[in-house]
Amino acid sequence: MRVLVTGGAGFIGSHIVAALTAAGHEPVLGADPRGVDAVCHQADVVGGFADAPAMVAGNNHATAVLLKAMAEAKVLRLVQAGSVAVYGEGRHHCPSHGVVHPGPREVADLAAGRFEPCCPWCGTELRPGLTGEDSPTRPCDVHAATKLAREHLAASWARATGGTAITLRYHDVYGAGDLPAQVMEDGRQRRDFVHVKDVAAANLRALEADRPRGSHSAYNTGSGEPRTVGEMAAAVAVAAGRPRPVASGEFRLGDVRHITADSARLRRELGWAPRVRFADGVAEFRRAGGRCEPAFLLGHPAFGFVRV
Ligand SMILES: NC(=O)c1ccc[n+]([C@@H]2O[C@H](COP(=O)([O-])OP(=O)(O)OC[C@H]3O[C@@H](n4cnc5c(N)ncnc54)[C@H](O)[C@@H]3O)[C@@H](O)[C@H]2O)c1
Repeated sequence: MRVLVTGGAGFIGSHIVAALTAAGHEPVLGADPRGVDAVCHQADVVGGFADAPAMVAGNNHATAVLLKAMAEAKVLRLVQAGSVAVYGEGRHHCPSHGVVHPGPREVADLAAGRFEPCCPWCGTELRPGLTGEDSPTRPCDVHAATKLAREHLAASWARATGGTAITLRYHDVYGAGDLPAQVMEDGRQRRDFVHVKDVAAANLRALEADRPRGSHSAYNTGSGEPRTVGEMAAAVAVAAGRPRPVASGEFRLGDVRHITADSARLRRELGWAPRVRFADGVAEFRRAGGRCEPAFLLGHPAFGFVRV
């Protein structure tokens, strides 16, 4: 299969290109879908609220242009990078009110160090759970909103053309990189760190999958091993022989407290399973010859890490 990989020079895209090549497919870089069998859409623009116009242009307008070009070139297979950020705070449990999907946390609470989401009905601290694809989507920042809009665009394209679209809602993707210099909040935010090679393998499965024509399917893509941001930062620091970062207590609006999505559907329907164990993935952060590999881990808004 000839596969156009947008964002193919990026962190995840470059691993997808390698996985496609290893599987005997022919990856094509760029943004022109003419002459390919499928498109694997990874290109992405990130930023804060001030970058909203650039993010909407780069993530949504650019996707619409790509989809129109695919329709004209009769390319009917799309796999794209989504994000679990579309769920916002995700699924939680209240002892009195059962399943709750809380809204964004209040600035006053964050400033006072009250990081845990509370039940909107009784104010009790909630217990985080696993978020399924059927959970409501409540993006908390512009970037997450552009990721959700991309899903709607893909679904419209599939209906209009009879194509098949799959969105892989990635969890926090990690791979060899530099160290997190600062951990936000108290470091107890729960995440699901999934190795970049497993994410590349999920893309391969999705590209080869047989889904109904005219459909769009979304799949959570995570390791199934929830960890905290502080735990990840400490493990990486130990592997690289550096001091453990201390949680800063600072916060960013738009960061969610806990998000751990349930990836059972991806395992069940596409037969994917993560292979890189946390300990092995983290061991890649060991310094080689005194140099760290390029920093892939830090830039993404989903992480809750910032550089100092
Ligand atoms: N890294 C993560 O933890 C994570 C988590 C959730 C979702 N994702 C999604 O995965 C995808 C890949 O992320 P990544 O971490 O590899 O990011 P990345 O920044 O390393 O790669 C994105 C690439 O897209 C390119 N790009 C941006 N706009 C483009 C355009 N208009 N045309 C062509 N290329 C363009 C950039 O130059 C960059 O090389 C993104 O869609 C991102 O939202 C990543």
